[in-house]
Amino acid sequence: VSRPEPGIRIGVVLGSVRPQRLGERVCRFVMSLAGRAPQARFTVLDLADYRLPVSEEAVAPPAGPGRAPEPEVRRWLDDMAAADGYLFLTPEHDYTLPAALKNALGHLAGEAHDKPATILSYASTAHGGSIAGNELRLTLGGLGMLPLPGSLPLAHADRLLDESGRVVGEPEWAAEVTCRLSRSLTELVRYADALRTLPVP
Ligand SMILES: Cc1cc2nc3c(=O)[nH]c(=O)nc-3n(C[C@H](O)[C@H](O)[C@H](O)COP(=O)(O)O)c2cc1C
Repeated sequence: VSRPEPGIRIGVVLGSVRPQRLGERVCRFVMSLAGRAPQARFTVLDLADYRLPVSEEAVAPPAGPGRAPEPEVRRWLDDMAAADGYLFLTPEHDYTLPAALKNALGHLAGEAHDKPATILSYASTAHGGSIAGNELRLTLGGLGMLPLPGSLPLAHADRLLDESGRVVGEPEWAAEVTCRLSRSLTELVRYADALRTLPVP
């Protein structure tokens, strides 16, 4: 069995920018498990930190050195380019992914191309944001990312996790979620490692 090379970089994209977001708990939970994939460095890319403008590009953003985005957009693009793979944390807002996440993705022009992405959707409701997760899958695929199969819907995430991201839900449920997420992180790191060496056409 080949082991992933050290130094793989995973960007954990926190997709909600609401002040009282449940996403922070989910993000803390994820980061507490990141140590189980020691070959990788997990970095939180919090959309609330970027304050990205609404995209007003006349056409799909052009890739290449000729592009001159605003500094905040440049920082987002550089951080996305620096990662070898992504874990997207998306809530479901109005039966789809949050507008802020869709907008952030709309600024990309190849920075995430050919890189794997794991989608974790969450909600305070029973279906775990799976509609948003499915829509995000289409968007990521359309942008040239490789969304990994399987889904990770976190239902009733507000009951599963406390403020510090510790699992406080019913033990069997908590163990299952923890196990599935750990496996998904390992899988993501494995794909990120393999795809790093994918020849550029
Ligand atoms: C504007 C808004 C729309 C929502 N729409 C949905 C929805 O379509 N489906 C769902 O399962 N939950 C929905 N919810 C409940 C969310 O699951 C819950 O508020 C969750 O905390 C959102 O994640 P966030 O706090 O990280 O933004 C909505 C919440 C808000 C604030």
